[in-house]
Amino acid sequence: MVKKLEIPLANDGISPFETSSCESLSHSQNKAQGRWIGRLERLRRDATGDIAADEAGLLVKGRMVDTPQFVRLWTRTLLAYREWKMPKEGEIKYLELIGSEAVDHALNKPFSDHECPRYLMDLGAIMALLPTPPARILDCGVGTGWTSVFLAKRGYEVVGQDIAQDMITQAEKNKERYGAKTLRFIVDDYENLKFSNEFDAAIFYDSLHHAEDERKAIASIFRALKPGGICLSIEPGETHSQQPQAIEAAKKFGVTERDMPPHLIIAAGKLAGFREFDVFPRPWIGAPVAPPKPPAAPPGLGTRAYRVAKVIFRAFVPAPEPSEPPTDYYKICSLTRMKK
Ligand SMILES: C[S@@+](CC[C@H](N)C(=O)[O-])C[C@H]1O[C@@H](n2cnc3c(N)ncnc32)[C@H](O)[C@@H]1O
Repeated sequence: MVKKLEIPLANDGISPFETSSCESLSHSQNKAQGRWIGRLERLRRDATGDIAADEAGLLVKGRMVDTPQFVRLWTRTLLAYREWKMPKEGEIKYLELIGSEAVDHALNKPFSDHECPRYLMDLGAIMALLPTPPARILDCGVGTGWTSVFLAKRGYEVVGQDIAQDMITQAEKNKERYGAKTLRFIVDDYENLKFSNEFDAAIFYDSLHHAEDERKAIASIFRALKPGGICLSIEPGETHSQQPQAIEAAKKFGVTERDMPPHLIIAAGKLAGFREFDVFPRPWIGAPVAPPKPPAAPPGLGTRAYRVAKVIFRAFVPAPEPSEPPTDYYKICSLTRMKK
């Protein structure tokens, strides 16, 4: 016997099943929807035994609706609820979860990172493409704010924004210790900024690939820029989401890690209304390689002895030579400029 479930129509009387489509969903929403479809399909099978999916449809106001349509509707409803209830929770809670050593590392960027030379070269490239100071700059997804501090010290009036209050709390410490007077920070979602025609330039430094929807983010920046304003982005491109570090961060902390190659940024820029586009190679002068990590402490070795062992390890194990850029490096990382 076919089991049926009565479910109400939407208030406007139009069946919401007609409109369910996964095209308007972001990458992570699509993945979540896939998981829900699998889960609910298993539930349906448990409830209906082995009968075919079309026989095990659902009855809506006397009309049969197939299970995938039903699943799509409810997945969308649940995702909309989740987004409303816990907007980008992984991004917001990141600092809370990574531990104090990693927070310190983030606070002291770029100097704390083995990639410091490359970060500084990136910033040099950004400054070379910005209008000369004084100009108003919107720095999007600033994290602990190091890029904003450098820009303010160079003479720009900077608004640094991030979705995570914890990041902005750290960024305020950086503003204070470097005396960056022309800088203010705000907590906001770069996919929904309220600014209009205010900035000469906007920057995404290593942050747009965390967007749920890059089209929304770029449209929001387009609105924030004055006519003739520019949007610069330095982002990891193709294959980023498949790198072990990105996979681990997404799994462990629930952050979004997507590929953000120039063609995706430019497609979103065209949709938003940007008129001119350029892609520049990201600077590479012998990219630094991560130093070797000391092995974990053997059982029974005290903390102090392990600290000494780590110092000895670092003194004797040589740092690797800077690497050559991979042949497709510029596909992987690049600097995109779009003009309003
Ligand atoms: C990889 S970190 C880069 C931070 C900083 N730009 C840097 O180079 O250190 C990405 C940042 O983007 C922020 N972020 C992610 N989604 C965001 C959103 N929708 N709106 C604003 N910031 C966001 C995160 O909170 C995080 O601080």
